[in-house]
Amino acid sequence: MKKITIAIDGFSSTGKSTLAKQVAKQLGYVYVDTGAMYRAVTLFAMQNNLIDEIDFNKEELIKRLSEIHLSFQFNPQLGFAEMYLNNVNVEKQIRTLEVSNFVSQIAEVSQVRAMLVKQQQQMGKDKGVVMDGRDIGTVVFPNAELKIFMNASPDVRAQRRYDELSEKGQLVSYDRVLENVMQRDYIDTHREDSPLVKADDAIEIDNSYLSREEQFKKVLELVNNI
Ligand code: C5P
Repeated sequence: MKKITIAIDGFSSTGKSTLAKQVAKQLGYVYVDTGAMYRAVTLFAMQNNLIDEIDFNKEELIKRLSEIHLSFQFNPQLGFAEMYLNNVNVEKQIRTLEVSNFVSQIAEVSQVRAMLVKQQQQMGKDKGVVMDGRDIGTVVFPNAELKIFMNASPDVRAQRRYDELSEKGQLVSYDRVLENVMQRDYIDTHREDSPLVKADDAIEIDNSYLSREEQFKKVLELVNNI
């Protein structure tokens, strides 16, 4: 079967990455988590004191973008690739609430987006890729053969993220997680450069009440119909 490009966009904590990983594994495709890349840039800014409690030094970050080297390295034990920032595995560090609280502000910076979009287009140039994010079907691969747009109610999403963080032993309150999910949605949908929006030709899946298995089956059906 001819390889295609699958773009999965949507709001935070809609289970995009779980679904994308499952689909990529089934099809033997490469999976790219673009959110991890924005998170790694945010971690770089935190590590280099470019972020304080409420703000970040945008000019300095832009100047130092060339110091950021991102790569995905496959972990055979886990069965998927992990994020490396300047050759250090940062998979755990980029999933904290501290990073989540700043990532959408960093993702508003056009120079950051331009750098990451270029890398994402390079990673998907041979097709056979499932990429998830916010602007994959609209900006990174506007000609993707299959575009999915995922949604779910904010409280369902916050509960999922809260469970995920609790499982990892991170002590956070549900209210803070809900606040973060809603704040990120707001910034992501209102930013000037590449706002989160459903592409005209994307197929919307609201998974508030769908099981993982049901979503997986639905996407495979869509792939088979292409
Ligand atoms: O997917 P995840 O929730 O890990 O993404 C973290 C943040 O990175 C998003 O809230 C969004 O601000 C940003 N992002 C983006 N464009 C993408 C992927 C993520 O702006 N393609």
